[in-house]
Parts: sequence; C-alpha cells; structure tokens
Amino acid sequence: MKTIHSRYILIVLLCISVHAIGQKRQAIPEVEALLKKMTLEEKIGQLNLLTPGGGVATGSVVSKNVEEKIKAGNVGGLFGVSGPDKIRQAQEIAVKNTRLGIPLLIGSDIIHGYKTTFPIPLGLSSSWDMKLIEKTAQIAAQESTADGINWNFSPMVDIARDPRWGRIAEGAGEDPYLGSQIAKAMVEGYQQDDLTAENTMIATVKHFALYGASEGGRDYNTTDMSRVKMFNEYLPPYKSAIDAGAESVMSSFNDVDGVPASGNKWLLTTLLRDRWGFDGFVVSDYTSVNEMIAHGMGDLQAVSALSINAGLDMDMVGEGFLTTLKKSVEEGKVTEETITNACRRILEAKHRLGLFEDPYKYSDSKRPQRDILTDANKVVAREAARKSFVLLKNENNTLPLAKNAKIALVGPLANSKNNMLGTWAPTGDPQLSIPILEGLKNVAPDAQITYTKGANISNDSAFAKKVNVFGPRIEISQESPEALLAEALAAANNADVVVAVVGEATEMSGEAGSRTDITIPESQKHLIRELVKTGKPVVLVLMSGRPLVITEEMDLAVSILQVWHPGIEAGNAVADVVFGDYNPSGKLTASWPRNVGQIPVYHSMKNTGRPAPGPEFEKFKSQYLDSPNAPLLPFGYGLSYTSFEYGNLSLAKKEINQGESLEVQVDVTNTGDRDGEEVVQLYLHDIVRSITPPVRTLKGFEKVFLKKGETKTVTLTLEADDLKFYNGALDFVAEPGEFEIFVGGNSNASLKGTFTLN
Ligand code: BGC
Repeated sequence: MKTIHSRYILIVLLCISVHAIGQKRQAIPEVEALLKKMTLEEKIGQLNLLTPGGGVATGSVVSKNVEEKIKAGNVGGLFGVSGPDKIRQAQEIAVKNTRLGIPLLIGSDIIHGYKTTFPIPLGLSSSWDMKLIEKTAQIAAQESTADGINWNFSPMVDIARDPRWGRIAEGAGEDPYLGSQIAKAMVEGYQQDDLTAENTMIATVKHFALYGASEGGRDYNTTDMSRVKMFNEYLPPYKSAIDAGAESVMSSFNDVDGVPASGNKWLLTTLLRDRWGFDGFVVSDYTSVNEMIAHGMGDLQAVSALSINAGLDMDMVGEGFLTTLKKSVEEGKVTEETITNACRRILEAKHRLGLFEDPYKYSDSKRPQRDILTDANKVVAREAARKSFVLLKNENNTLPLAKNAKIALVGPLANSKNNMLGTWAPTGDPQLSIPILEGLKNVAPDAQITYTKGANISNDSAFAKKVNVFGPRIEISQESPEALLAEALAAANNADVVVAVVGEATEMSGEAGSRTDITIPESQKHLIRELVKTGKPVVLVLMSGRPLVITEEMDLAVSILQVWHPGIEAGNAVADVVFGDYNPSGKLTASWPRNVGQIPVYHSMKNTGRPAPGPEFEKFKSQYLDSPNAPLLPFGYGLSYTSFEYGNLSLAKKEINQGESLEVQVDVTNTGDRDGEEVVQLYLHDIVRSITPPVRTLKGFEKVFLKKGETKTVTLTLEADDLKFYNGALDFVAEPGEFEIFVGGNSNASLKGTFTLN
C-alpha cells in the first residue's frame, strides 16, 4: 500500500515536472557557452541595473560612475538613457571595453506612449477597445526602439479598487477580466511576435504582485489578503500578461504574506515559475531590494541573498547584488548555481532581442526622424483620447455644442499644456500637447470662445509645491482668486454656455500621488458653484487620474465629460467630442464612489449574509447610516449622445456540461438620432459555490457600432474557463449548479438569463 502510494506520488511529480519543463523554452547554446566562460563577478555584474539619471528618478538614489562600472563588467542594463547615439556609445563601452563584450539591456518606463503620448492607462482602459490599446502599445514600441530602448517597464496591471491610490491612473481599474484582456493586448503590442525585429521590445508585467491593494491607498505600503482573493481577483492580469509571452516581470514594493515581494520565494518561484511556468527574468522595482532593510528583513547582504534565493534576477539601482552576492557565495548563503541561473535568464533575454548578433540594432540614427511623432501616430493618439472619454451626465442633450456657439471657456485646465500628458509621461514633451482652448478653436473656428482661467487648480501653495516636483503643474496666479472668479463670471454672463475644464493636475495622481480627499479641489468647486449661479448651462470637462468624488458636481452641472489626462492630442480630442464629431463611447473601468468612506467599492462585491435591501436603511443590514452602499457611478457606466436599448436575450442552451462554452445573444438597438458605439457587457453570477461568489462579475464584452435606428444581434461567448474560479484548495474549477447572467450597458444591467452547469 505504502509503495503504491509513493510510486503514485512519483508518477504525479514526474508528470508535473514534465509539464513545467514542457512550458519552458530550450536552452540557448550560445548563452550556455558564454556562461561557461564567465567568472562569478561577471555573472553578478549582469544582475545589476543602473540609471545614470536624467529620466524620472523615483527613489533617492541615482547611480554613480556608470561608465566605469560598465567597463568593469558590473552592469547588465541601463535605464533612463535614450537616443540612438547615446545608446550606441553605451553599447560600445560594454561591447568593446569588457572582457566578454556582453551588450546591455536598455530599459525605460513607456507607460502610455513614448513621445506621442496617449491617454493615461486608466483612460485607455475606458475605451474597452483592445485593438486600439494594442495599437498604442505598438506605437510606443516603434517610437521608443527608434530612440534606442529595448525593454519597457510596462504594462502595469495592478488591480486597483482604492481611488485614493494615485497609481490607479497607471492601470486598467478594478476588474480582473477586463484587466487580463488589456494586459494581453499591451504585451502583444510591445513584443508583437518577434522580439528580434527592430521595432519591438521586451514587456515587463508589473508590479508583481498585489501592489494595487496597498493599505489605505498609501503608496509603497503593505498588502495583506487571502490566497483565495488574490487568485480570483488580483493575480489574473499578471498571469494573462505572462501567458501572452511577457519576457520580464517586475517585483513590487509591498509585502505579500509578510515578506516583501522582491524577496518572496512563494511569489517569485513557487507561483511564478513553478505554477505558471514563467521562464523570463524578474527585475526588482527601484531600490526595492535595499528597501527590505527598512521593511525589517535584515542588512543589505541579508536582503540581497533573500532576494536572489527567492527568484529575483536583477537588482534595480540599489547595487545590493553587486556589492554583497560574492560574499554570500563565499559564506555559503547563496550558491553559484543560483547566480548562474539568474544570469542565464538575463543573457537569454539579450539573445532573444538579437543583441548578441547586433548590439547596435537600436542605434539607427535615421529612425527617430522617421518613426517618432509621425502624423499617423498622432492620429491614433487623437482617436485613443476621444475613445477614452466617458460622458457622465448630459441633461437636455446640452452636448454636443453647435460649432458656432458662444462659449465661456473657463477653468485652470482649459489652457494648460503642462497638464495634458498625465502621470508617468517623462518621455513626452508637454509643450507639444494641444491644450483644450487650442483644440476647440481648431475644430470649431466659427465658435465665439472667451477664455478665462477662473480659478487656480488649488490655492494651497504648500500642496502645489508637492505636486510640482517635475515642473509647474499647479500655477497659482498673481491675480487674486476673487479677480480670477470675476473675470470668469463676466465671460459666463456673456455666453450661451459655459465649458469649465476642471479637476486634477497631472501629478495629483500617479506614483506618490495618493490623496485622502478625492474631490475636486475647493478653489475649483467654488468656481463651479458660482458659474452655476449665473443661470447659464455649465458643462464640465473633467480631468483626473482617478475616480473622483463628484457628488455635488453631478447635481450642479448639466453635463460632465470625463477626459482623464488625454495625452498629446488632448484639445483636439476634447473638441471632437464637445462639438459632436465623435460620439462618446467610453465606460468607467473603476466605480466612482459617493464619498471616501465607501472605499473599497467595486461591482463584484459579495452579497454577505445580510445584504442591504435597497437604498432605504434597515437596521441590522450590511449598510451605512449615512450613505447608500452603491457607488455614485457604477463600473461599466458611460453615456452616449444617442441611446441604446437591449432586448431578446437568449442563451443557446439551458444546460451545459463541464468544458463547454455557451453562446449568449442579445439585440441592441440604437434608439437615438446619432450613430454611436456601445460596450455590451455580460456579467455572471454563480449562485451557489464552495467559495462565496460575487453578486456579479464581468465575464464578457463587445464594443459595437450602431447606425441610428439600427439593431444588431450581439453574440457573447461564455468560455468554459469563464465559469471557473479558484476554490479553497486553489484549484481552478467550475462547480455544477445554476448561474445567472446579466447583459447591458453597465454593471447594473438588469436583462437576465439563467442556465445550469451539469
Ligand atoms: C516604479 C516603477 C518604475 C520604476 C523605474 C519605480 O519607482 O514603481 O513602476 O518602473 O520606478 O522607473
């Protein structure tokens, strides 16, 4: 009995390892030959990533004596450097001045476009348009490789359900299903299917893992969550990026189960390599290895050893690997084999990029002129921007405006080049962006536009100082707030309609951009209230890097168009929508709370044992005394200049078997008088299962174009995997029973069908 048992275990183990090996790619003979020639020091040198500065330094350290370090064979890659000539120089130092002539990886953060800046990722996600998102990533790769970069620190796929966290701007919002599709689209956009091409680059999925769940929305903070929650709700987008072929992973700053991600063996080896079969390389975040000292994990030697033993391959900026690993090998704390494995992965990446064949393949000085900021790229930027906008309110069809309207254009963001690109756009040039005023004039030269600033983004100079670290974002006028307001009111009184461009400056979100109060700053709220008092219709064009609390403004304004930070073509894209050349089609990808106290609030919440009966209060139910549970604006929400009706929901079968997919059909009719696009969404509710189910969760969507009056039958397919979830044993299973589906234009969709899984 015992022998049979252990034999059985052996067979199972063999199967598992064959499976894992089966996913791994074959050893690369050139790399193996090179490894044989390398000394321990040379191997350790490859694990060191430095930045000479010049980009955005997000930590306190910038690397010193970089050239000498490259010559000494102490550098595997650089970031924060660009331009074909500079990159050629750097590669020449590495190739001609070191014993083995190993070329460098050249990294960068190309988060939403290189020089052609697209909307911030949260905005892009609101387009629900995967082809478009892939295209923006592909253009980002085309432009940045032309400038010498071969490795991108993107996509950021952290699920974020706390809009206080500034970095919600960098991701795709709250939902793992949508987030997974976007992760895939971006990886495919950057890498295409050929890394040896001159216009593709390595994608890095980050921040692995759970960074979006840091406590209180504070950056660089702690996360703590159950395995069941992480597997079902937070890990899917990382896995999707890896399944799509991402060659690299960046570990996150936060801890997971009490161990910081950069030193977390369960995360970097058991999950990432053993369970998911990842065989690319893992880079730390900026000095995240060193930061484990402050986390309380030991001194630099200890945390460096912890990291490499956990499965981290490359140390960003901190030089803990460079300065301590040799000692750790000598002391038996790290094996040379571990270092060889890490080095192998980095050399393999270089090989896959074709750098050994031609270290200068990204150093063609003719390419920038040809590939960067082309007219064609700007067309995509304009398209991406207008598709990212979400129409939140449009009373009396105030929008679109006539092209000859008499407009008072007011607000601190109405003519502010410095705030168009959004967070994490260090490679873009704000001065090349089109502000809203210019865009409105471009698109409607006959409109009578009077522009006044009306208010400062904030009147708080101490706050402005914190926001202005990368340049002037909040510019407090010499003029008094009263004088600014008086000018705006005069313009409003003279106009038919007021367009107020208000919201957040770019660096009010993004990294180290957390806020506890996510309303529009008071200076601008005051402006809005006073404008409304003039009796003129007030349209808000709202900019932000996060969901905002706009409970008051939803009542005050007649129309609200959410435009995020739209990128280089901001003004033109806003004008396209404001004047109706493009009918808005974006939908929110994170719920907008009524107040900060509701956070976290997201569509796929659990029912609990005592669900709130409705908006009315009932004692002893899961409810607040002072606020409804429902967000102000639900996930998936967004209006159009036309209207859509849903009907005739039908399921191909009433019963399906395990492993089968299910086709769901619905008729969608454009019932208004304009052509438009609608994001048809499908939500699933697994009524009974072994882990309490969400009340509903997104499992399908399709963006369809409908001419006015047109009806289309849309087919959404629930794949077998869409019914699965990770159970208590972390097995990915679908449990038999009844399911409900809801189809409609947002996560409150009420059109319902049911089926049974046998
Ligand atoms: C950020 C990363 C980024 C890195 C390098 C860090 O502070 O968390 O997202 O890739 O800096 O710039």
